[in-house]
Amino acid sequence: MITLQNVNKVFQIPDGEPLNAVSSASLQIDEGDIYGIIGFSGAGKSTLMRTINLLERPDSGKIIVNGQDMLALNEKELRKARMSIGMIFQHFNLLNNRTVFENVSFPLEIAGVPKSERKQRIEECLRIVGLEDKTKAYPAKLSGGQKQRVAIARALANKPKVLLCDEPTSSVDPSTTGSILAFLKEINERLGITIVIVTHEMNVIKSICNKVAVMEQGVVVEKFEMNDSKFVPKSNIAQFLFKNEIVLDKREVAYV
Ligand SMILES: Nc1ncnc2c1ncn2[C@@H]1O[C@H](COP(=O)(O)OP(=O)(O)OP(=O)(O)O)[C@@H](O)[C@H]1O
Ligand SMILES: [Mg+2]
Repeated sequence: MITLQNVNKVFQIPDGEPLNAVSSASLQIDEGDIYGIIGFSGAGKSTLMRTINLLERPDSGKIIVNGQDMLALNEKELRKARMSIGMIFQHFNLLNNRTVFENVSFPLEIAGVPKSERKQRIEECLRIVGLEDKTKAYPAKLSGGQKQRVAIARALANKPKVLLCDEPTSSVDPSTTGSILAFLKEINERLGITIVIVTHEMNVIKSICNKVAVMEQGVVVEKFEMNDSKFVPKSNIAQFLFKNEIVLDKREVAYV
């Protein structure tokens, strides 16, 4: 469903050394996966995930999504391909001057869906995340968890096949994290949407991911399936994931 092959991304820093944000990264994400990308801050997780819909254009490598070679598409084709790839962010990125209803409407308007069809679709998406009673509210009146649910509804509006999530629970309180993860799992199971999640939180991976890639300094150092009992983890992060152990080391404590 998604193949990333030898993806490289270098950022040119003014007056500085070029920064290898992603180096020769390859991932295979299959239909129905909830694929986690985990690593410390600055590891290149977001950059790598953003190459999937070309929000970040790689310097080299291959990106295949739904059988399409993303780097071979022209602008119009890319716009269309992006409609089947939803995305949610750590800070929700809602439009503050639009109501909940109007936020979910936005991608449909961009896609040119006629007004008569939009209402039903918006209500359907808000029902999926349990916010059908908040249609007229403005984002400022919502909790962090509710804002992220609006963002999920908005990402679902154009019926994507893939949902990219960049730190979806990092700006909500721990008690809300569980409900956001439950919605993502439900969307994956009930709507058959493949999910990619960038996170630095172990519990996110443990709760819902079936496959994981660990990144360090731009490199994918390990890939595995969470239910692979024969897998021998090498990186610290993978060892923690498999051992189910809390180690109160300064560097790792953030992940527990
Ligand atoms: N637009 C940019 N211009 C220059 N450098 C960038 C840009 N985007 C990211 N970087 C750098 O590339 C590296 C990887 O960044 P990235 O955001 O992908 O990491 P990350 O693993 O998502 O980190 P975090 O957990 O903090 O979000 C970092 O060193 C970052 O500073
Ligand atoms: Mg990031």
